[in-house]
Amino acid sequence: MKKVAVLPGDGIGMEITVSAVKVLKAAARKFGLQLELKEGLIGGAAYDACGSPLPAETVALCRESDAILLGAVGGPKWDNLPPDLRPERGALLPLRKLLGLYANLRPVRVFAPLTGGCALKQDLVAGLDLLVVRELTGGLYFGEKKRELIPGGWRVVDTLEYTSFEIERVARLAFSMARQRRGRLTSVDKANVLESSILWREVVETVAAEYPGVTLEHMLVDNCAMQLVRNPGQFDVILTENMFGDILSDEASVLAGSLGMLPSASLGGHVGLYEPSHGSAPRHAGQDKANPIATIMSVAMLLRYSLRQEEAAAAVETAVAAVLDEGYRTYDIMETGCRQVGTQAMGGLITASVESL
Ligand code: IPM
Ligand code: MG
Repeated sequence: MKKVAVLPGDGIGMEITVSAVKVLKAAARKFGLQLELKEGLIGGAAYDACGSPLPAETVALCRESDAILLGAVGGPKWDNLPPDLRPERGALLPLRKLLGLYANLRPVRVFAPLTGGCALKQDLVAGLDLLVVRELTGGLYFGEKKRELIPGGWRVVDTLEYTSFEIERVARLAFSMARQRRGRLTSVDKANVLESSILWREVVETVAAEYPGVTLEHMLVDNCAMQLVRNPGQFDVILTENMFGDILSDEASVLAGSLGMLPSASLGGHVGLYEPSHGSAPRHAGQDKANPIATIMSVAMLLRYSLRQEEAAAAVETAVAAVLDEGYRTYDIMETGCRQVGTQAMGGLITASVESL
């Protein structure tokens, strides 16, 4: 019996997790897995219910689970709370940190029927398959922050801090991923300016020595941002710092047709956390409109990395591909000649497809 914590969160998080849970249950039935699913509160929803965006019960639930499926957190309703009570800084970041989830995997895969819908020329994205490995518990997000009054205004500080240990462990994970893929790793930094990036390069170089089969290349982050839209096919695994990874993965999602297609897995601790790479999209919430595929693809990653059910994971991915092949689209990936459906219908189609495989 495996335990999965389900944290829907806010905004479209509530709708996309409903769809994703249906798919997860169908895959479990199909492959004979015993799952126990338990829901927990997080983000604005948790703040409204009990005054904390990350209640202790939620952390306890996560710790006793084998995997966590998360929707999204945040929304305008909570934007004016003190920073530490806001869903992003008060729940999502501390949860990642508490659970030791230092490696965030964001695969960018272009499904064949979506190549035409990409903003870039079709031949640049056809068959694209790259993986962003984003460091998730250090860097600018977690370094010391300060705000103080000085004569004439304010002074603010955000600190980009890393230890060699933090760089080494995420580099090792990225190299092992690259070894299982096409054997290329691009480490992205700003070593022409930042001290942290100079150390980043040094450590990545040492780790590279353990992986002779993987070709390492260093790239400056501004160049990487450009290369991602100029020639994305050159990348296999991109390894980078927390903030750079946040920005580059949103950019890379456009290659897959929409941010609504981009799943993620956060690994490194005892329990893996799976969530779409996008946010809670408050503007689209409550309309049965949002694309659930990023969350459903996150379910596939959950099955693969936390439950070690490769067959079930592949079945979910095949089901998504089949439904796209049949021409069903949510609004964000809609094209002429296709059939537009809402969140629950898309989830239902993918569930049925898993069942019929
Ligand atoms: C992401 C999100 C979060 C992040 C926000 C909501 C704090 O943008 O998971 O990419 O920056 O990590
Ligand atoms: Mg982001």
